[in-house]
Amino acid sequence: SLEEALNSFMFEYKGIYFYTGSTTPEIIDSLEHMEIRDSDVFLVTYPKSGTIWTQQVLNLIMHERHRNGLEHIDNMTRAPWIEYNLHNDAFNSRQSPRLFTSHLPYYLMPKDLRFKRAKIIYVYRNPKDVLVSFYHFHKLYQKLEVTLEWETFLGLFLSGRVLHGSWFDHIKGWYTHKEDYNILFMTYEELKKDLRSAVIKICNFLDIKLNDDAVDTVVDKSSFKNMKQDPLANYKFISEKFLDFEKGEFLRKGTIGDWKNRMTVAQNEKFDKVYMEKMKDLPIKFFWDI
Ligand code: A3P
Repeated sequence: SLEEALNSFMFEYKGIYFYTGSTTPEIIDSLEHMEIRDSDVFLVTYPKSGTIWTQQVLNLIMHERHRNGLEHIDNMTRAPWIEYNLHNDAFNSRQSPRLFTSHLPYYLMPKDLRFKRAKIIYVYRNPKDVLVSFYHFHKLYQKLEVTLEWETFLGLFLSGRVLHGSWFDHIKGWYTHKEDYNILFMTYEELKKDLRSAVIKICNFLDIKLNDDAVDTVVDKSSFKNMKQDPLANYKFISEKFLDFEKGEFLRKGTIGDWKNRMTVAQNEKFDKVYMEKMKDLPIKFFWDI
């Protein structure tokens, strides 16, 4: 049944669903005491909001000028997810500045971050495009033994019964606690509309000065087209144990407003009803279209 398939695909811990077999409650709990350096940079997102794109941008900004052999290292190794430490990486022995990625809600992140140690870049995307992107991405999951119908997935997404929990809770949690962190909020759509300005904004936040040529290089190497062909950036290196790349890719369409091709009027209304209720107190504006 659907319930059984979901239960073996993901497990619930402290209000969040995690990918079975790739992490454990003990690992999640251990992160609270993870040692943080002031020079650390954390990229935080809800899935499908532009994570690997921003990883590419950050890796280029932070390492391009002093690569020292890093040029053959894939983005996951350079900016590992703290909750899915797939390579069993010793985070403590990493050279500064360290770069990390996470989909965690604010309350499961390392406690030190709350004292404004280190920098966080939180990237979010309009949730209708997140939903559609996530729906397509579920076809790739090897551990998911059912095919989720679109209508079913919509219901699961709205109720938060998906990997990494409720999109609404994720953004609300981070946004309402933003004063506790040294954090920059960015949108997928602003990267999409003007990547160059977004790169400069990130550089300013990180106190990194790049000359015009270096900025151009970052922008060029982070384009959809170039990332799709870049084996270190497009995540096709992930084991077939986890994802089936016959069924799709991380870099799928890369557009704003694809939800319009997928949602019926009735589904859109259903979405808006939940959205209005959950987001009414949050002063965040979204770009739903180009
Ligand atoms: P779509 O499925 O809508 O195409 P994440 O990395 O958080 O899983 O997000 C994946 C989404 O980001 C996918 O959206 C993917 O195409 C998009 N993406 C990745 N790199 C991109 C780029 N360079 N430009 C635009 N979109 C990009």
